[in-house]
Amino acid sequence: MGLDAVPLAMVASRTYGGGGKAGETLQVGVINLGYSPVRMSFGEPREQERRGESLSSGTALSTIYAKINIINLFNYFYNSTLKDRKVEFNEENIAQLFGHEAAEDEDIERLKAYYLKGRVYDQVSNNLPLRILVGHKGIGKSALFHVSMAEEKQKNHLSLLIKPDDIAEIGENETNFLKLIREWKNGISEIISKKSLTSFGLLHDGLRAKLNEYGGQLIDFLQSTFKSEEFIDLSATKKAIINDFLSSGKIYVYIDDLDRGWEGKPKDIRKISALLNAIRDIASECKGISFRISLRSDVYYLVRTSDESTDKIEGSVVWFSWTNHEILALLVKRIDHYFGEDNTTEKLIGLPQPVLAGHLDKVMDTVFNGRGKWKKIPTYRMLMSLIRRRPRDLVKLCTLAAKNAGAEGHKSIGTSDFNSIFEEYSQGRLQDTINEYRSELPEIEKLLFGMKPSRREKTTKSGYIYTTDELLKKIDNIRQNVAFRFQDGRTANNKDLAAFLYKINFLTARKEKGDFVERKYFEENRYLSHKFVDFGFDWEIHPAYRWALQPDDLGDIFQSMAPSAP
Ligand SMILES: Nc1ncnc2c1ncn2[C@@H]1O[C@H](COP(=O)(O)OP(=O)(O)OP(=O)(O)O)[C@@H](O)[C@H]1O
Ligand SMILES: [Mg+2]
Repeated sequence: MGLDAVPLAMVASRTYGGGGKAGETLQVGVINLGYSPVRMSFGEPREQERRGESLSSGTALSTIYAKINIINLFNYFYNSTLKDRKVEFNEENIAQLFGHEAAEDEDIERLKAYYLKGRVYDQVSNNLPLRILVGHKGIGKSALFHVSMAEEKQKNHLSLLIKPDDIAEIGENETNFLKLIREWKNGISEIISKKSLTSFGLLHDGLRAKLNEYGGQLIDFLQSTFKSEEFIDLSATKKAIINDFLSSGKIYVYIDDLDRGWEGKPKDIRKISALLNAIRDIASECKGISFRISLRSDVYYLVRTSDESTDKIEGSVVWFSWTNHEILALLVKRIDHYFGEDNTTEKLIGLPQPVLAGHLDKVMDTVFNGRGKWKKIPTYRMLMSLIRRRPRDLVKLCTLAAKNAGAEGHKSIGTSDFNSIFEEYSQGRLQDTINEYRSELPEIEKLLFGMKPSRREKTTKSGYIYTTDELLKKIDNIRQNVAFRFQDGRTANNKDLAAFLYKINFLTARKEKGDFVERKYFEENRYLSHKFVDFGFDWEIHPAYRWALQPDDLGDIFQSMAPSAP
């Protein structure tokens, strides 16, 4: 039965069948509907409910119904339409449900089907000559490129992907920067020509010389080469792409994964600077080429701050970031797709969060029952609090918990599954952070482990949360044992380090909002500034890291933190 087809009158034909606590998943008997009992969520617990007060089983039906708001009814009907909600959490199903950690390992058709187009998508996938997509690791740069490329192909546009091994040898021995840029221009033009021609089965002997005949105007060169061919054996799709290119002269070039092997050394920085200069030149000299390049935020930072010549590209930079709501919608889209239901991005983004979260009930318990302020909170709130606004965090967290559920024979991912993997998840994120930002601050590991709560902080339960003064004092203490210097040799004072910790999402800014906490993330577009800005919030170590910082006292982790506000 489709969701829209469920008449509201059916509400009255259901019998409340349990005396459980509100906020828990309850068994509900269903009369006269011809399908088996389904689970029903009372959604987000209210304050007294979170404290554990139960609804008595003698409560009049009318009172109970009054407690079920429209959202929960929606979820209820939504879930009750699923015939078979049981998932076997084996490796294959888990990969299908939550996807792979890296977009390049995903099947492109599947990725396209469950890809959620956030605000950034259209800022990158358009006709502008140069777009530089900058964002943290695991934020979705490759996924965006793969989907955008697939869409260009669908529109019969000529598009190609340049990977690090394609350009490994360019400019290796050149020391003069201007000559280095020229080498890169020649190298990139040659690769674009080569890739375009080989994808249509054309040979490319003496390519460089032929390209030179056209004075580097590679669109002209490619168009005249394609024109002179007959392409008898080519498929209709490929012919359509050639025809489109011959009439439009447009080519879309994606360059991804440039940070592979990146160590932040001067030669790494020069290489990326030269490449950026080169493509900027090609894009302005050769109308018709659209470049899209992805750069990890730390790489962009070092390149941008160490080489003045890169200031000209700033106008082409697009910062990649997500809101929690978008990331939740992203997870829902994947899970819905697994169950054969494809909703549009617009529809999912437009749903209120509790309704959106109702879609997760197909694979995970509605309520997470942790300790302290995490007792009986909606599971999605817990998920949103533990990821650092990066889709990969969510993939990792859900995959680990699903694996645990599989090993335990659970049919729904529940509190115990999450509890079993928080430590592994947390250690993984801490290690990722160290690897990701070591090139910016070589002693980062000592700084992060130095932020572990002291024995005194633990006993007073003040660990992890600091006023600005306390934070700066804590950092000063760590600095007594280690001389922190940034990669460029600059000595780091306490404010520099506080700004750095905020910038890499190790710290978030926080303000109490009743039982929840408003967490304010660093605004990515300020990444280039070193300034530490005190805007009246306290500071808190992101929940994702806490198990890894306090492995001796895991039981207490939840006691000392609160979930994020929606
Ligand atoms: N909009 C989206 N919709 C669905 N899944 C997404 C979306 N964006 C990213 N993902 C998923 O998030 C994960 C990480 O994305 P991706 O590999 O693109 O990150 P990245 O920014 O390229 O990371 P890295 O810097 O390590 O290369 C992948 O599993 C990808 O499929
Ligand atoms: Mg990537």
